[in-house]
Amino acid sequence: MKIQLLFFCVLPLFLSCTKTEEQAVEPEEFLKDHATFPVGAAIDYGLLKDNSQYRNVLRREHTSITAENAMKWNSTHPQQDVYNFKDADYIVEFAQSQGQRIHGHTLLWYQFQNISWVKNFQGDSAAWEQLLKNHIQTLVGHFKGKVSSWDVVNEAFRDDDGSLRVLDKDPGTFDDGCLFARKVGRDYIARSFRYAHEADPDALLFYNEYGQEWSSKKIQSILTMVADFKNRGVPIHGLGIQMHIDINTLNTGIENAIRQLAATGLKIHISELDIRVNPNNSSTFAYTDALQSAQAEKFKFVVKTYRSLVPASQQFGITTWNVSDNDSWIISYLKKIDYPLLFNSSYQKKKSYAGFLQGLKE
Ligand code: XIL
Repeated sequence: MKIQLLFFCVLPLFLSCTKTEEQAVEPEEFLKDHATFPVGAAIDYGLLKDNSQYRNVLRREHTSITAENAMKWNSTHPQQDVYNFKDADYIVEFAQSQGQRIHGHTLLWYQFQNISWVKNFQGDSAAWEQLLKNHIQTLVGHFKGKVSSWDVVNEAFRDDDGSLRVLDKDPGTFDDGCLFARKVGRDYIARSFRYAHEADPDALLFYNEYGQEWSSKKIQSILTMVADFKNRGVPIHGLGIQMHIDINTLNTGIENAIRQLAATGLKIHISELDIRVNPNNSSTFAYTDALQSAQAEKFKFVVKTYRSLVPASQQFGITTWNVSDNDSWIISYLKKIDYPLLFNSSYQKKKSYAGFLQGLKE
């Protein structure tokens, strides 16, 4: 009896203690809970399939998904009469099961489209246009109702003078030309938008580009294109600012790009954000505390600037280009030594994550 009494007296005390302890622990914070717009990540099919840490981060943090490569021409359309949506469908199913938005990337890019069957295709400009139309409408049709927005054309303007990529200046580099500009003609961008719209009138259509932070010429070309599209009634709903930047990128350049492009009234997507800390690719690079803080500040600046300069109705979201430093294209594709993202290789949050989060909160 005594023991029972003791138990009933002590138990509530014990419970109230544990409760106080629980409350003392800050609840874990996630990006999506603090954002008033979608927070996205580009995702890789192999990592998504095989890495549970990767999936967990995506589930916890993100409300929007872009396929890093799985919807590109070389992944989806390996031969003229063969389409392959296996990897992209897997990504779409994952995102749908989490209730995440799926942004399509990309229907046409001057890089990676030149796989041999396209390069060797024979035909007059009408045949090339048919090829383009079939590609765009097959993809948009396949994902209709699932992919709610598309980067229709990616990187159509040159780095040096902002002119349209047409002729090959330096094949295989970022100074390459565009096969479809040569074969279909300079109007290939507008036609691509029209074909995409025909296939899914509900999808939001974006033009996606890099370098707007440092190239006023590219900004000018984009603004001219948008004005022309508006005049001609070509459907365009948004602009992607890739924002592959580094810690030395001028804040004024970032502000200027966002401000000028937002003035079009179109939706603005920071579509491929990453921030390099070793822009000179030094082989003896050390990722010091000071550099981590500088990177965090830059992430914070990008997010805050986006929130303050883009009207709420135009905020399509901010997407980072993959999840952990190890997953970044800067390492695998550009072969640089760098740490450009929000999570370290063990999927732990970095200072840069805290910077992004502060940018959402302040
Ligand atoms: C990159 C991917 O991240 C790499 O995995 C791939 O090998 C090459 O393409 N701009 C874009 C993206 O629009 O599609 C590019 O993605 C990065 C630069």
